[in-house]
Amino acid sequence: MNPAHAAHPASALVIDNWLETGWADRELRADVSVGLSSRPKELPPKWFYDDHGSDLFDQITRLEEYYPTRREREILDREAGAIAAASGAECLAELGSGTSTKTRILLDAFAAAGQLRRYVPFDNSDTTLRTAAGEVASAYPGLRVHGVVGDFEHHLGRLPLDEPADSEAAQFRPPAMLMLLGGTIGNFAPAKRPAFLDAVAAVMQPGDTFLLGTDLVKDTGRLEAAYNDAAGVTAEFNLNVLSVLNRRLGADFSLDAFEHEAIFDADNEWIEMRLRSTRAQTVHIPALEMTVDFAAGERMRTEISAKFRPARVRAELGAAGLVVQQMWTDVEGDYALTLARRMRQP
Ligand code: SAH
Ligand code: TRP
Repeated sequence: MNPAHAAHPASALVIDNWLETGWADRELRADVSVGLSSRPKELPPKWFYDDHGSDLFDQITRLEEYYPTRREREILDREAGAIAAASGAECLAELGSGTSTKTRILLDAFAAAGQLRRYVPFDNSDTTLRTAAGEVASAYPGLRVHGVVGDFEHHLGRLPLDEPADSEAAQFRPPAMLMLLGGTIGNFAPAKRPAFLDAVAAVMQPGDTFLLGTDLVKDTGRLEAAYNDAAGVTAEFNLNVLSVLNRRLGADFSLDAFEHEAIFDADNEWIEMRLRSTRAQTVHIPALEMTVDFAAGERMRTEISAKFRPARVRAELGAAGLVVQQMWTDVEGDYALTLARRMRQP
């Protein structure tokens, strides 16, 4: 074993990639061909997060207007000890972990309680996941980090919540806490949320917990500003999805012929992100043998970010068999963190 490995025992950091190129490419093609044939046109949000997109999202989290990250961090700073005590988990598995920055507040609290053994970051952005998992492994000696590059709409059933060697021996593995932070649940179409929460509940054993971060309904001005910052970072993030299609599908979108829009839809209680075609234009997508016409002013939906009320959070978790133990909000009531427990088998 060379000295570099000695500093990082092989067992302390493992990374699996479940997104073989072929699979992800097929999924991207299917998503884009369905989305651009729909009326209105739409593009699915998970393709935002190539390396550049992940970097732009990281910048968004530091914007003055983008309060959700700050609010979630405030709640974590205040309540991480209570969350660790209430959950009792020895393994933390984070879905859509990104840079795992706020996660460290939880890792610190769980480690202080002496119960933390394992961290499983899970994200579809390969570079971001590898960097974050490596940094966490170095910062927490003794913690076993098992990162997975995967898609949480497809791969939750294989989430490695336990050491491979232990799982056959013991009927029940040590308790785990799954988490989905950053308001990411709001990026699912409402119709897809129940299946997602069912899949989360299905990998949980009785006694496991789920920590969910949700942005709350508030006044339209602040909501829209959070998704339409003055520096234009969110606009660049939104437009970046077109670069992803240009690069991966050989498309010829010109980024300066589309404009970013973010509007709060008060009936659906979600922020809707769109790209508006500034002129009539035709886009070619050779990989799909597709030609797509845009009218001047035509809007294409790229993302929703649903805002919640506490009763809805409870109801949707409850429908998946997850019973809310505690819900915390920041002092302004902008954002909520909810801890729910699996009570019965599916
Ligand atoms: N948890 C972080 C990041 C939130 S951004 C925070 O709170 O700041 C959402 C993250 O989910 C991104 O890192 C993105 O790469 C990841 N993601 C989006 N769709 C995904 C999917 N279908 N499967 C796995 N990860 C996904
Ligand atoms: N989960 C984040 C949210 O809904 C994702 C996000 C923030 C986002 N800003 C964005 C997605 C802009 C698309 C465009 O708040």
